[in-house]
Amino acid sequence: MKHSEPVRRGDGLSPTDPVLLAAPLEFISEDHLRERQICGVIEGLATSASFDRQAALTVLRFLNEELNVHVRDETEDLFPLLAQRCRPEDVIERVISRIRTDQDEATRLLPMVRAILVRGLDTGCDPSPQDSKMLMSFAARVRRQLVAENAILLPIARARLTRVDLKTLSQRMRARRGLPPFSEASIA
Ligand SMILES: [Fe+2]
Repeated sequence: MKHSEPVRRGDGLSPTDPVLLAAPLEFISEDHLRERQICGVIEGLATSASFDRQAALTVLRFLNEELNVHVRDETEDLFPLLAQRCRPEDVIERVISRIRTDQDEATRLLPMVRAILVRGLDTGCDPSPQDSKMLMSFAARVRRQLVAENAILLPIARARLTRVDLKTLSQRMRARRGLPPFSEASIA
C-alpha cells in the first residue's frame, strides 16, 4: 500500500479512510467499527436528557453519505463473491439471508429515523418516548447485523476469497466511490 499519510484506524469517529480500499475486507471491517460507533450516538440521542444537534447531524450525515455505499459494497459485490467461492459446509446462503433480513429491516426503519432526527433539528425538542423506541430499535438491528457480519461473514471471506476476488472487490468499491483503479502493485 503506497501512501504518505498514516491511516487512522479503530475509533470509528470519522468515515473510513479510502487508503484502506486496497485491503477491501479491512475497509469493510473498519466500516463496521464506524457503524458501531454511530449506533452508540443514536442510542445517546434516544436516551439523552437534552437534544444534541451535533450528534443528530453526525448520524444524518452517516445515514445519507456512508451507510448506503457500505450496504451496496456488501450486497452487490461481497455477497456474490462469497456465494461463488464458499463451500457447502460454510452454509453461506443461510448466513447471507439472515444478514439481508436485518439489513432490509434497518432500511425499512431508515425514513422514520431520518424524520425523527430532522424534527429534532427543526424544533430542538427531545425525541418522544415513541421516537426513542424507534431509534433504539434501529440501532439494535444494526448491531445484530454487525455481530453476524464480524463473527461469521468476514472470517469466511478472509478464508475463501482469492487474491483475484479481493482485487475485484477493491476495484468495484473504488469505482463506487468515484476513485480511479489501484495500480496492480498496490492491491493488498
Ligand atoms: Fe456491513
